[in-house]
Amino acid sequence: MKLSGVSTLLCALSLVDGITAHPEMSKTLREIEEVAKTKRAESFLDWKDLDELFEDYEDFASGWSIANILLRREPAQKRTDEWSPPGPPGSPKCKADTCCIWAHVSKTLTELFVDGNGQCNDNARSAVRFGFHDAGAWRKGLDFGGADGSLVLSDVEINRRENSGLAGWRNKVKELVKKFDVGVADFVQFAATHAAVSCPLGPHMRVFVGRPDSSRTAPENLIPSPFGTADELIQLFQDKSISPHDLVALLGAHSTSKQRFVDPQRAGAPQDTTPGIWDVLYYKETLQQNPPAQIFRFQSDINLSKDRRTAEEFRDFAGRGGQEHWNEDYAKAYLRLSLLGVRKTRDLTECTKALPQSGDD
Ligand code: HEM
Repeated sequence: MKLSGVSTLLCALSLVDGITAHPEMSKTLREIEEVAKTKRAESFLDWKDLDELFEDYEDFASGWSIANILLRREPAQKRTDEWSPPGPPGSPKCKADTCCIWAHVSKTLTELFVDGNGQCNDNARSAVRFGFHDAGAWRKGLDFGGADGSLVLSDVEINRRENSGLAGWRNKVKELVKKFDVGVADFVQFAATHAAVSCPLGPHMRVFVGRPDSSRTAPENLIPSPFGTADELIQLFQDKSISPHDLVALLGAHSTSKQRFVDPQRAGAPQDTTPGIWDVLYYKETLQQNPPAQIFRFQSDINLSKDRRTAEEFRDFAGRGGQEHWNEDYAKAYLRLSLLGVRKTRDLTECTKALPQSGDD
């Protein structure tokens, strides 16, 4: 993407902003600056990065869609019409459509993730965190790890300290993967996406299936610590091809989270006051001087909310229009996360139609 010419023009124009007196003029310049800011965040990944991350995206329609979403040339969210699977699981009609079985999986997940009051629950939280911890165990240059199902298939990875609390969801994944006869890596990421979509106000995320599975234990030290400094955390995610901006978007998953192991005395304490809702209160309450007593803030979240590279995004998501902004940014950032370590796009199929409409419908 050729942004340099546009950026130069915008930089020049933004310098004028300081000396212009006319309010309408400065409003226009501010808008232009906004665009420039978005473009800078967009340009974290470029075509060259995609060439390095994916072997073959140029040759396949799904590869192009993924590239376009990651470069923000296509939205990362999509509303679909209600779609009924063409047949029951295992039937020839169902086998003929890759997404059919996922629509059946989806019905089961909705029952698991949404409580009677419409809010998303502990299963949904576990599924989102599990999706992150499976995919997140990867960095650029590694030819294994990432979104490969190893958090289920390896008996070593799940016992690491950072994965405390994830064994229950792992057992459920094993049971359902067998029942529906689907790939483990795909199930883990489909469920993590489905969970966010099912929460009230959740994004209309796009989802792809077709990842290879691996039982090879992922390398250590790739999952962030809740005591990490901003420098450490930003570097850790950059090494995964995730920008500081996208890290902040992903952190919003703590809008639906609860902690049990950081401070066991306060086990069950949420990171915002509405853990059943996919809202931007997490950003607001993390930024507050005197946050509500019932929430528990991770030091890592506080550190990132104050760092010059990430603080502005915290404020943007917390501010006016933050919900829509965050939903689109989360959908895009999570798509990247859900494909960490996946090199080939030829076997990937978009199955967004198999997801429910999001919890705000
Ligand atoms: C700087 C990065 C991050 C750090 C340090 C971090 C740390 C943590 C910690 C310590 C917990 C509590 C675990 C427990 O005590 O039970 C937690 C929970 C959670 N995290 Fe993160 N996290 C990070 C990023 C993410 C990302 C990128 C996602 C997803 C996209 C995510 C989703 C969740 C969810 C949903 C929970 C709640 C799990 C539950 O309630 O069962 N986190 N995180």
